[in-house]
Parts: sequence; C-alpha cells; structure tokens
Amino acid sequence: MQDVSSGTAVSLALGDLHSSLSDPLLDSMNFLNEIVSRYPQAISFAPGRPYDGLLDAGDITEALEAYTEYLSSERQFTKEQIARQLMQYGPTNGIIRDLMARAVALDEGIDVPPEAYVITAGCQEGMLLVLRALFADPDDVLLVASPCYVGITGAARLLDLSVQPVIEGASGIEPAAVIAAAQQIRAEGRRPRALYLVPDFSNPSGVNLPTAARHALLEAARQEDLLILEDNPYGFFHSYEGDPRPTMKSLDRDGRVVYLGSTAKTAFPGARIGYLIADQPVHRPDGTVGLLADELSKIKSMTTVNTSPIAQAVIGGVLVRNGGRLRPAAEASARFYHDNMARLLDALDRSFPEPERTAAGISWNRPEGGFFVVMTVPFVADIAALERAAGRHNLLWTPMSDFYVDGGGTHQLRLSCSAVRPELVDQGIRSLAEFVAAERLRSQ
Ligand SMILES: Cc1ncc(COP(=O)(O)O)c(C=O)c1O
Repeated sequence: MQDVSSGTAVSLALGDLHSSLSDPLLDSMNFLNEIVSRYPQAISFAPGRPYDGLLDAGDITEALEAYTEYLSSERQFTKEQIARQLMQYGPTNGIIRDLMARAVALDEGIDVPPEAYVITAGCQEGMLLVLRALFADPDDVLLVASPCYVGITGAARLLDLSVQPVIEGASGIEPAAVIAAAQQIRAEGRRPRALYLVPDFSNPSGVNLPTAARHALLEAARQEDLLILEDNPYGFFHSYEGDPRPTMKSLDRDGRVVYLGSTAKTAFPGARIGYLIADQPVHRPDGTVGLLADELSKIKSMTTVNTSPIAQAVIGGVLVRNGGRLRPAAEASARFYHDNMARLLDALDRSFPEPERTAAGISWNRPEGGFFVVMTVPFVADIAALERAAGRHNLLWTPMSDFYVDGGGTHQLRLSCSAVRPELVDQGIRSLAEFVAAERLRSQ
C-alpha cells in the first residue's frame, strides 16, 4: 500500500473513527472495483454494471436537448427559467418528479402522485434516506432477504442499525420465514421495522419472486406490521416473453411498500439518478398530515441538498424521448442481457457437463432474467481464490460471502452476465472450468 503518512502533522487511528470504517463490508465495493481495474485484460463476470457497448455519450447531449425543448415547448419556460432550473440549486425532492411519476405509472402500473417522489442521487442515496427516517430506536431491526445487496447492509452499518437476515429459498424469501423472524425479534423485546428485498432478479441471487409469494409477503408484512423496502433495478430484464411480474408496490393496498427505483441499469449509472416512492402519510404533533416523502426531504436537504438538476434533466430527456416511459429506452439493453444470460447458462452447461458436475458438488441456479447467476463450488471461493482466478486464469467473478450478513456463501461465487463481451463468454467459462479444476486439486 502507498505510504501516505509522511509530512502530515495530525494522524488518526482507524479505531477512533466510526466503527463501520473497520468493517470489511464497507471495503467490498471498492475492493471489487480495485481488482477489476488491476486486471483490465481479464474476462470479467464480476461487476453488475451495464455493458459498455450499450453506452453512447452522444445520448447525453440529445437527452439534454430533448429536456430543454420539453421545458420550452410544453411547459412554456423562458430561456432564463431553463437556465435557472438547470444551473441553480433546485427543489430538494427533484425537478423531474412529474415525469418520473408518469413513467413509473405507465411502465409499472404504480399510480402514486409526484408529491410522494424523491429524486435521489442514485438508489443508494434513497436507501440511506429511508433507513435514517424509519429507524428511530436502537431496538428497531431491519430484516433483509439473505443473501443481500451490500448497498443496503452497508448503509445500515453506517447508521448503526441492527440487521436480521432471512435466508432465501430457491424461489426467494418465504413469507413464513419473515413472520418467524419478526416474531423472534419481538420476543427479544425489539421491533421488526422493515423488510428489504429485491423481488425482481435479486442481486446477488438472481431470484425472481413468484407473484403469489409477493401477495403472501404483503400479507405477512400486514400481519407483523412491517414496512417493505422494495428495490427494483432489474425488473425490466426478463428472459422470457411473458408478462413481467407485478411490483410489490403496484400490489400494495395499504401503503406498506416504500419503493426504491434506480435508472442505473435501465438508462446509465453515470447519471446517478434514482427515486423513492414514499406515499405513507405522516401525522405530525400539530395535527397536520404530510407524506413520508416530505420527511425524507428534510434528510436529503442535509446530505446532498438536491440531486444534480443537470443529471435529472438528462434522465428527464431520456423519458421525453421515449414517450414518457423508461421501458422502451431499456429495450436494447433488455435484449442484450437476455441473450448474454442465455449464452452464459449454455456455456456453463457445456463446460461443466453432467454427471461429473453433480458428482463434484458443482451447481448453479438458472435465473429467468436479470444479471446474476450463483454458482456453488467444492472449495472456498474467497478473495484469495479470486486473486488466483485473475492472476492465473485471466478471470474475474464476485465472492458471495460479502452478501451474507452473518456468515455464509463461502463456497459460492456470483457470475454476472451484464458487462462481459458476448464473444468472450464461452472462453471465460472455459477458463472458469480450468480455475475450478485447479482449485479442486488445491483443496484435496
Ligand atoms: C439491488 C441494487 N440496488 C441498488 C443498486 C444501485 O443503484 P444506484 O446505482 O442507482 O445507486 C444496485 C446496483 O448494483 C443493485 O444491485
């Protein structure tokens, strides 16, 4: 590591900083980025980032033009008003709430007015805002479907929140397991406050929760008085022709779901635009009633002040150019990920044939869409193994253990189909087979 200590008068002990900074969880995203950048030539099944070939910087200029044209022709904004909207501080909860609310209504059947939206600096900011607002007491507990996206557990760690994993089955989190966990927490004198999950093609498990389970989970949440934090970056990426499954928010009849949206995978992550739908009424001591979105606004005003209006304008332009929707804008990406997932699953079948695969304790799931496949292997798939895969086999993947809050996933790795060039999938999976063979020999 680089020596950065010389020449400074003051030095700090890591142990004197917030305890989360000593937690390896907070290093996991940076570590992955670091190792990916250290092996630029490796075939990478590691990151859940969009495919570079789908990105065109020209789209930014066109989207920005479409948005300013929309402001002048449809909203009758003057040149000065447009400059002010794009270049000044703006309303904390965002300038494209109306466009976003219309898009989400058209794309997802979620009919919630713009006032209940907060446009965030990525979904990640949304997680932090909503956790800060909802968790009032040290005894409040966040339930998470496990394995779980590190963005939420990391945000919970920053805020010193207690997290209780609820292990997913092959078809996702089971309502009975949520009820049991909530009752156990209550029996310990604590309050189960909310359940976080990614119902559509979860990160990392790739699981797509069946519609009946979505209904049953809402019922379980009602029974246990839990809020649901539904995070949905991958819902547009189905591998089959049928209808997408309904979002839990669109099924929510009693305002139990706070919806976390992201445009990172459906548009592009560099815009850093996410959104929160928080239409829960909040009763104030003076008898007035507002929305949870208004309360989130107070927190946002003390964190990012407002999401960059320029970035909002770009995503606003993407919506305007696509008939007010995001789904058509994501069609080319959806096709690409559909094909790359099929390619990845085919390559796995070819490179790990039966019956040897099962005899060796190797398996994987077969997601119907999204970015991620989870593979189980008969050796410890940790960071040291990843270094060997990168250095000796020119191959990157993600260890699963970071996605488990209290241990687990030691013999699993996550393969992402999203960022790898299609023509390299076969070769990459052949390298994976060589790596797995070498690790099996090593562990004998
Ligand atoms: C489940 C999940 N939620 C949220 C995000 C991050 O979204 P954003 O880039 O909008 O912060 C990701 C990114 O990988 C994700 O997988």
